[in-house]
Amino acid sequence: MAREPTQQLTRWLNELARITDEPGKLTRTFLSPAMRRANARVGEWMRAAGLAVREDSVGNLIGRLEGSRPGAKTLLLGSHLDTVRDAGRFDGALGVLLPLVALDMLRQQGRILPYAVEVLGFSEEEGVRFSSAYLGSKGFTGTLRAADLKLRDADGIQVRDTLETLNGETFTLPRAAHRRSDLLGYLEVHIEQGPVLEAQDLAVSVVSAIAGQSRGRLTFYGQAGHAGTTPMGLRRDALAGAAAFISTVEGIARTRPPLVATVGTLAVSPGAPNVIPGEVTLSLDVRHPRDRARRAALSRMLGLAEWIARRRGLRCTWELTQDGNAVACDPKLTRVLAETVRKLQGRCPALVSGAGHDAVVMSALTPVAMLFVRCRAGRSHHPDEYAAPEDLRVALRATLTFLERFAG
Ligand code: GLV
Ligand code: MN
Ligand code: MN
Repeated sequence: MAREPTQQLTRWLNELARITDEPGKLTRTFLSPAMRRANARVGEWMRAAGLAVREDSVGNLIGRLEGSRPGAKTLLLGSHLDTVRDAGRFDGALGVLLPLVALDMLRQQGRILPYAVEVLGFSEEEGVRFSSAYLGSKGFTGTLRAADLKLRDADGIQVRDTLETLNGETFTLPRAAHRRSDLLGYLEVHIEQGPVLEAQDLAVSVVSAIAGQSRGRLTFYGQAGHAGTTPMGLRRDALAGAAAFISTVEGIARTRPPLVATVGTLAVSPGAPNVIPGEVTLSLDVRHPRDRARRAALSRMLGLAEWIARRRGLRCTWELTQDGNAVACDPKLTRVLAETVRKLQGRCPALVSGAGHDAVVMSALTPVAMLFVRCRAGRSHHPDEYAAPEDLRVALRATLTFLERFAG
């Protein structure tokens, strides 16, 4: 890899962004054909950087570099290779490719770290396909549960089916890839996905905590019927009920900052212009840095869903697909990272992440730290996602210094 490191990183990010399930936009979901191609390509880059590459039974890509000291512990660095629909180039991919560039720089300088390093490309973080996030890191940390395997995608395919196809055999729940005592920690580099660093004119910063998150599917059941012949007073319109619910959710979240709540998908059945909607399923995503506030808001929303349904002669059901508490980053690791950042840019305010990250699940196995990189206009989960090469350079230097600090 002869080119300037930030240029190399940008080239890789651009090439990875062309590996997609949907022509004309970037979409890669759990174990999709594009995800398989992404793993193959990033695996080649890992090998070229001197790492030994393997894939685990949930499709995580793992590149390992042994240290010079036999039996030394392992530092984990990584993020996810799946994306949302019509995604940007940086979310997830940056946290896999930037450490790879850093390790390749050390290799070219003939530097061998005393400890082992693994670069992890998780197979699923976004929760797009099964409405539940972190299947990759759950597999890696041995926290995947039988209930996760029963989740279904929009075509009715279960997580278990996809994993049996991947492994060509009956799937058994994996154990943690490492013992806690063998690990030094986990570092995740990620774009901020929000506007704070830009407002503070900073390239990077550290994360103190990651907000808790609940997700699920709510279904309103009414009565499908003829749109021309059924008088308004005699209808049981599931979509009209869902619409009332969506406004209610927005109203609740607006009055309780920093609570955020989103209905991001809506499936209307039977789905014809001249048929009254008989059934509507919507996704609900609720987040708050304080777990009690998140739980209280969710239960108020679900109570109001019941009330809306009753008033309209509908029925509703709720299926919780994900429920995770807020997670604190490790103070010691974060202090080391913050010191390196302060040397580079003076200030290093700790941010709370409203977005979920693999670090949430990894924290069950090992101490975690996160480095956030400024992104333009705070835009993310959108093709306009952008982090400037100058900021990537600062993130790369911070990561290299962090690696050196462990060597000391
Ligand atoms: C992941 O990006 C999430 O926060 O939804
Ligand atoms: Mn992400
Ligand atoms: Mn994301």
